[in-house]
Amino acid sequence: MPNILVTGGAGFIGANFVLDWLADPQADGVVNVDKLTYAANLRTLAPLDGDPRHVFSRTDICDRQALDVLLATHRPRAVVHFAAESHVDRSIHGPAAFIETNIVGTFTLLEAVRAYWITLDAEAQQAFRLLHVSTDEVFGSLGPDDSQFSETTAYAPNSPYSASKAASDHLVRAYFHTYGLPVLTTNCSNNYGPYQFPEKLIPLVIANALASKPLPVYGDGLNIRDWLHVMDHCRAIREVLSRGVPGETYNVGGINERTNLDVVHAICDLLDEMRPDGQGSRRRLIKFVPDRPGHDRRYAIDAGKLARELGWAPLETFESGLRKTVQWYLDNQAWVESVTSGEYRQWMAQHYAT
Ligand code: NAD
Ligand code: TYD
Repeated sequence: MPNILVTGGAGFIGANFVLDWLADPQADGVVNVDKLTYAANLRTLAPLDGDPRHVFSRTDICDRQALDVLLATHRPRAVVHFAAESHVDRSIHGPAAFIETNIVGTFTLLEAVRAYWITLDAEAQQAFRLLHVSTDEVFGSLGPDDSQFSETTAYAPNSPYSASKAASDHLVRAYFHTYGLPVLTTNCSNNYGPYQFPEKLIPLVIANALASKPLPVYGDGLNIRDWLHVMDHCRAIREVLSRGVPGETYNVGGINERTNLDVVHAICDLLDEMRPDGQGSRRRLIKFVPDRPGHDRRYAIDAGKLARELGWAPLETFESGLRKTVQWYLDNQAWVESVTSGEYRQWMAQHYAT
């Protein structure tokens, strides 16, 4: 049976991708390679228990030997690379893990994939793809009137996270130009949706608001992000994987620029409607806290290339996607409790201490 190999498939976007991929009974099997860091949750993948099309391996992408064995055993026709340290605030407190996984890990994966790829026959080599999932944060920060990021915008990463992702993008690009490895890169804006770890803005605000805890807004709350529902991102990845041109990069964005304050207000208002607490608007819980160092002011994506060349457009508006997401968190409190372990509580206590 043909397979794809997915890295980071127990994290937020990776797990949504794997669940969505295998929802199609005709889909190729998935070899899911994940180190299971704090950000992973195997509970998310529980619906796949007993499904022979899903093989999970607890493996670090920095472990070359283990990757070699997995590739030789499962002989995937494609690799979709999600595994990363992904939280900007954590990269400020401890950048080393970001260098290790995002740069050294991507390099190790590229080397393992290259060694496997050259063993394939000419037809299989041509059909093979490695899709690298990256971020719009590599492009740096926009002013209010700057035009959106395009695929040709110069890289200008500002955080250890975005710098490590930029480095990985450059390595992926180099493996195409130097070795002919058929790679694709997607640079996506901020995602939200089910199964997102509650250290990121949207699930954090939902969880805190439900517990009547303060809703921490950094600085003046007027930083802008371009929000995309995770299923729209997963669909874009599938399109690029099946029809993207090797060596090309594709920007993915939601056409949904919002200030952080707008996002927090929208969540408060939805919760007031869907789960009133009888104490007035949840907006009362908003607390302005000291800004993140080097906080990028604005991200905005021009996803025109993906629309023109592959016919992709987001299906969710921010309003429809956020409503579904709030509903999902209301319906899945047990999932949230299962990820808010001791390690998570320690991070929250340390990071929001001031
Ligand atoms: P996440 O932090 O939720 O999940 C990352 C997963 O990678 C976890 O399951 C973790 O265990 C795994 N992992 C970490 N280090 C590993 C290692 N050394 N070996 C194997 N597995 C390892 O991240 P996410 O939000 O799902 O992001 C997935 C990818 O998408 C990342 O590459 C990220 O840079 C990119 N991205 C994320 C967003 C977003 O808004 N979340 C936007 C654009 C791009
Ligand atoms: P985040 O979800 O961490 O994503 P990123 O930094 O990768 O864009 O943050 C989204 C925005 O929300 C960002 O501008 C920082 C801000 N933010 C807060 O204001 N308060 C918070 O508690 C968090 C986690 C983020």
